[in-house]
Amino acid sequence: MEGGTGAARPRLLIEDWLPATAIGVECIRERSTGQQPPDKRFHVWWARRPLAASRAAVLASVLPADFPRDVFERLLGFYGSADRVVKAEQLLVDARASAKKIKNPHGSRAFRAPIHAKDIAVAHAAAKRIWGHLPTVLDPMAGGGSIPLESARLGLPTLANEYNPVACSVLEATLDYPFRFGPKLADVARRWGAVWRKRFVERMDQFFPTPESAALLGEDAAPSPPPLCYIFARTVPCPTTRHQTPLVPDWHLLKQKGGIAVVANPVVDKPAGTWTTEIRSIEVGSDALAAAPLRTYSKGKGISLFTGEAIPAEWIKAQAQQGKLGSALYAVALKTPKGLRFRPPLPGDLEALESADTQLAQWRGGWEAKNLIPTEIIPDGAKTRELMQRGIKRWVDMFSSRQLLGFGVMMEELHTLRPSIIAKEGEELGEAVLHLLAFAIDKMANRNCKSATWICQAGIVGQVFQRHDFSFKATYSEFAACVAGGGLAWAIESAIDGYEELSKLPHAVARASTELTQGSATSLISLADHSLDAIVVDPPYSDNVQYSELADFFYVWLKRSQGYRRPEWFSSVLCENSEEAVKNDSRFRVGVKKAKDAAAAAQVHYQRLMTQVFSEARRVLRTDGVLTVMFTHKKQEAWEALFASLIEAGFTITATWPVMTEGAHSLHQAKKNAAQSTVILVSRVRAASAGIGYFDARMQSEIKAAAERTAERLATEGLNPVDQLVGSFGPAMEVFSAHDQVKTDTGETVAVGQAIDIAADAVANWRIRQLAKGGLAGVEPEAQFALLCWATLRAAEFRFNEAKLLGHAVGMDVGTLEHAGLITRKADKVNILSAAARRRETPLREEEAQQVLFGWTQGGGKRLKRADALKIHPRDPVFRTHLDRAQALALVYSDAGGDAAGIGAAKGFSARHGIKTGDATVRLIEALLQAAPPAVRREKSEMAGKFPEFRAWHAMLQPMFGTSPPDWMEKGPDQHMLDLLSRSGTAPEDDAAEGIEQADEDDEEEDEEEE
Ligand SMILES: C[S@@+](CC[C@H](N)C(=O)[O-])C[C@H]1O[C@@H](n2cnc3c(N)ncnc32)[C@H](O)[C@@H]1O
Repeated sequence: MEGGTGAARPRLLIEDWLPATAIGVECIRERSTGQQPPDKRFHVWWARRPLAASRAAVLASVLPADFPRDVFERLLGFYGSADRVVKAEQLLVDARASAKKIKNPHGSRAFRAPIHAKDIAVAHAAAKRIWGHLPTVLDPMAGGGSIPLESARLGLPTLANEYNPVACSVLEATLDYPFRFGPKLADVARRWGAVWRKRFVERMDQFFPTPESAALLGEDAAPSPPPLCYIFARTVPCPTTRHQTPLVPDWHLLKQKGGIAVVANPVVDKPAGTWTTEIRSIEVGSDALAAAPLRTYSKGKGISLFTGEAIPAEWIKAQAQQGKLGSALYAVALKTPKGLRFRPPLPGDLEALESADTQLAQWRGGWEAKNLIPTEIIPDGAKTRELMQRGIKRWVDMFSSRQLLGFGVMMEELHTLRPSIIAKEGEELGEAVLHLLAFAIDKMANRNCKSATWICQAGIVGQVFQRHDFSFKATYSEFAACVAGGGLAWAIESAIDGYEELSKLPHAVARASTELTQGSATSLISLADHSLDAIVVDPPYSDNVQYSELADFFYVWLKRSQGYRRPEWFSSVLCENSEEAVKNDSRFRVGVKKAKDAAAAAQVHYQRLMTQVFSEARRVLRTDGVLTVMFTHKKQEAWEALFASLIEAGFTITATWPVMTEGAHSLHQAKKNAAQSTVILVSRVRAASAGIGYFDARMQSEIKAAAERTAERLATEGLNPVDQLVGSFGPAMEVFSAHDQVKTDTGETVAVGQAIDIAADAVANWRIRQLAKGGLAGVEPEAQFALLCWATLRAAEFRFNEAKLLGHAVGMDVGTLEHAGLITRKADKVNILSAAARRRETPLREEEAQQVLFGWTQGGGKRLKRADALKIHPRDPVFRTHLDRAQALALVYSDAGGDAAGIGAAKGFSARHGIKTGDATVRLIEALLQAAPPAVRREKSEMAGKFPEFRAWHAMLQPMFGTSPPDWMEKGPDQHMLDLLSRSGTAPEDDAAEGIEQADEDDEEEDEEEE
């Protein structure tokens, strides 16, 4: 079908059906701590997509719509079937909600399931039938490689392109080595890793002594246990005494659930201007402290240990910029047969730090001359600014002297060892070994620098990229680099183990060709016009991750460990970023007065690059090829940019599949809306004759209908309401993008955003109709907005952008809610206020009531404060809105003690204020009860305690207004379903601890945070 027209092309599976819910379940299972796929543990890369979604996107993009469902589902790795996967997950969700323990009803995770040769043969034959050959899949922005890895595992010819050299280095080891060398590489790398480490230990062991500590730890600590890691505080001169005082946000060293808490307790010698620590536990007992010592750092501000005075943030920043921030060792974690123990620093520890300092001073010059340590200046950027403000100007400044000493030795010894490795293993295998060992250096850097903190809840060292930034860490930890099983030994094993697991992932027996190119996806020069069948891409999402700024942290090390082998990737000072498709305002600040102008220019740049990426995709794609885009974002602007770029590049959207990638149980907490989904958008080259479409009533009602239909379908498929909303944008765009351009009847071009607004409104209105069967006539827009927030975001705390998506439908913006006193907003975070939080201390007096109703008038007496006018009191004579009245009613019920007395009091209130069955207040209450997220329904939950109005309304609805409230009984897992699933067999369990979250040293990245 090469060169075929859009009309002639057969429907692809992804254009017709996709078991999106089951795929979502597998994505969620992939994310559970300690069980992540090996590619994610191998090396840090940000915003990696789940393998389950990536495989589904690839496979469904190359198969025909009539492909057998059972074979497809097996190829996705589902245990049993999609239906079984969904049912098993439902059982788990119900069990969690009712705190019931059940045997894990799932089989092994999809990414680990065997890939059967028979199924691959059926899929390849079907794909060849429609494409004329085995289709090639390109990911032009491959990042950490989830998409090309899955394509290669399916035995499809695969091309991966990526702009960033660090990602390229990760891709090479992920896409090439496992298929070329298999697990053998791990064995060889382990052998050489041991040799490398031995040389390292020979030189570095003297700097990590084991001081005699039995006197401190007691008899059972003989011989003295070796340090595992050292915990430091950043220090700042006290403004009054000028003594260095520590900035410690939490003195806990261990704070594990159910276990005892251990703290470092500062002991200050004021006259001497010094301090040290003693290690204490917190429990009831003679030797224990009752509570942790007061923190000396919070939100940028400090407290002096010497004077107790507050240290302003500006002081700390100014000292940092003058290079006056110090570091002080305040605790040492020890490895003992009985587990972790702690002790304060001993003279031996401090002397070792000093001698490391002296040694570094001696070696540093030579290392700089040989270019072994990263002296590059850190450029000013969106994320690096934080470092610069703290006086970190060069990448070497991220490390303490002893840390840097270790890195210099690691690098030097690796280079020294290289000839022996190549001589013994040959160039091909030898270089792959060196590559894995280079990753061990990166792993060390990520957890052994001044931005890696000790995580007391888990008793482990955290990593720099806990979040997608370089946020300042007031305390940090340093590995005891030579300790057996820790330090460098851990880093080597972690890199090799990640690789080994990767190489053992099941894949198609016949190896298809896999090619990797480095360059911008805006110009894929090695690819001929119309030469490719399928492109599957997961592009950057606006300003969500500043890849090159973050990647520089690793680039400067990889350049030194791998640059000789890949000069084409590692010859620039830092990562190139001119063609990076991200919105980075800091790159547009020069010559611009206002921040918002820089932001606008950055947005234009991002959108231009995205359009170029898609235009290039169109050039290399066969006219009947498919472009599948995976996109994760909740900001409407990001969606608009994506759709506008696709349309401008000549694509039309043909299908949309939101896949929930965030666990439902986190939504149950309802404190925060953590909903996360990846939307898979399918697009095709638009027919040459698409022409101009008119944004008339017909097109608008088609968009509305498409959006509403989708929201309804996604709701029945169990997707959360935010995903239902975002998922409706694609179908709206299917209508809109069928044309080259859309205009109004007066000839003005219609922006994509207008169509998205219509879709968002349609979904919001549909949702209101679902919640309020009797309608919400007479209910004020702000109450409707608040209702939509509960119903859609299902949490009391959410992000501004998510709420913004909802406001349009009721003709309001988030600011109006704030203005109405219903929410609080701090930066990007929005919190809904409970009835209790809105309660005024005293009821309104008569003239004040007049002001609340009619506004302040001249001569009306003392003016009521605006903040008070927006509050409520159960004895207020009047209320501004139906929501105020409903909340006051709930307060009356609670004040009277609930139950019968509460109902009695509420009845009196209703009579006084004329609240009756069917009126606007009652209809609003009914709708709010429908919208209530599970956490506010549960009797003893923290959220129900914070928002008791929901349970109050629930209790009063029947006795007072004769309407049945929704059924809020926790059902627990369905026993019948449990029996049914257990009869259908349980696969080898790889996740027996499904409900238990464990901290895992190898979890390289916190959940992606969408902005
Ligand atoms: C969302 S990430 C891809 C993540 C990947 N799917 C994974 O699972 O690891 C987007 C990637 O696009 C890359 N990128 C940004 N601009 C690019 C460009 N102009 N050409 C190619 N890649 C680019 C970034 O470096 C980043 O790795």
